[in-house]
Amino acid sequence: MVTEAEKLLAHEFAEALGISKKTLMQYEREGKLPSAKRYQSGKLLYRYYTPEDLIIARQKLNIPPPFPIQRRQLFMNLKGGVGKSVLSYNYAYRVAKLGIKTLLIDLDAQAHLTTYAGLHPEKIKLTLYNVLLEDLPIDMAIQHTSLPTLDIVPSNLTLSPLELSLFGRHAREYRLQRALQPIKDKYQLIVIDAPPNLSLLNVNAILSVQDLIVPVMADFFSYDGLRLLFESLAQFRKDLVYELENVYVLLNSFNALETVCQQSRKALETHYKDYLLKTIVRKSTTFSKSTAAQQSVFELEPSSKAAQDIDSLVQEILGFSYQSQANSKHKR
Ligand SMILES: Nc1ncnc2c1ncn2[C@@H]1O[C@H](COP(=O)(O)OP(=O)(O)OP(=O)(O)O)[C@@H](O)[C@H]1O
Ligand SMILES: [Mg+2]
Repeated sequence: MVTEAEKLLAHEFAEALGISKKTLMQYEREGKLPSAKRYQSGKLLYRYYTPEDLIIARQKLNIPPPFPIQRRQLFMNLKGGVGKSVLSYNYAYRVAKLGIKTLLIDLDAQAHLTTYAGLHPEKIKLTLYNVLLEDLPIDMAIQHTSLPTLDIVPSNLTLSPLELSLFGRHAREYRLQRALQPIKDKYQLIVIDAPPNLSLLNVNAILSVQDLIVPVMADFFSYDGLRLLFESLAQFRKDLVYELENVYVLLNSFNALETVCQQSRKALETHYKDYLLKTIVRKSTTFSKSTAAQQSVFELEPSSKAAQDIDSLVQEILGFSYQSQANSKHKR
């Protein structure tokens, strides 16, 4: 049974492949692509596709994946409550919906991401604890979500003592990097949600990714956390070998009517110009509603500001997307 969450409409499917809807129909008629699936809404029969159909279609049409090698990205800020979990989940969800095999990794013992993805942390038997300390193959800690293209390495409170247990271990900073090696070809995107600190676990995460995405909210403390993070990164550069290619600062929960938001934006533009993303995620109650419902903002309110902003985040960072439903309703 295909869930509502998995369905892609014909224009979305075509746009994600980079072809017109007309060409898509033609390919289906010619047998170059399998025919669409159908669902009934009222008296009308609509065609739909799934993210897995996108993977197959890209192979059949020889369309290279939107980014050629595995990308690993970390959402991190030393400050808590800036939107790391909510943004990383929706970002990964959106990319997975576009037919990219994506893995989420929950590094936080609070397990917000795990819960958001619809899993029960207390029922999880194997976590990164077993992977990083007992050399359990990471494959065994991976769980599926309701979207077949989106998997997760969940977390729970067993992660709390990991920090202490890692001390004294050989190559303790590089354990996550090593654990990810066997799944290099299985996932095209890995998205990690970090807890708000500079623990050994987070150092492991920094050493495992190419991109760091730092959400900041428009307040003084958030800004302070940003400065500390950049200072720490500079320090690491002296001590450890890592391959961060991009550091993106993402202004979150922005409300143009609030003076503090305007001031923060100006300060970020002045001091972090080279890192600041053009995309700004606006304040939206859809985010809190979606965590309560354990659904992505795309399932809950596909036309919301929240969905539009995550869509432009994906587009800006990974360079691909399909037009958001909010802008293309008439195309159905
Ligand atoms: N753009 C936004 N608009 C409105 N609310 C938001 C927005 N972004 C995040 N929030 C809300 O802020 C709260 C904190 O978000 P989240 O849990 O993702 O932060 P976090 O950085 O992961 O926190 P922690 O450091 O505790 O892990 C949540 O209630 C979330 O719904
Ligand atoms: Mg969090």
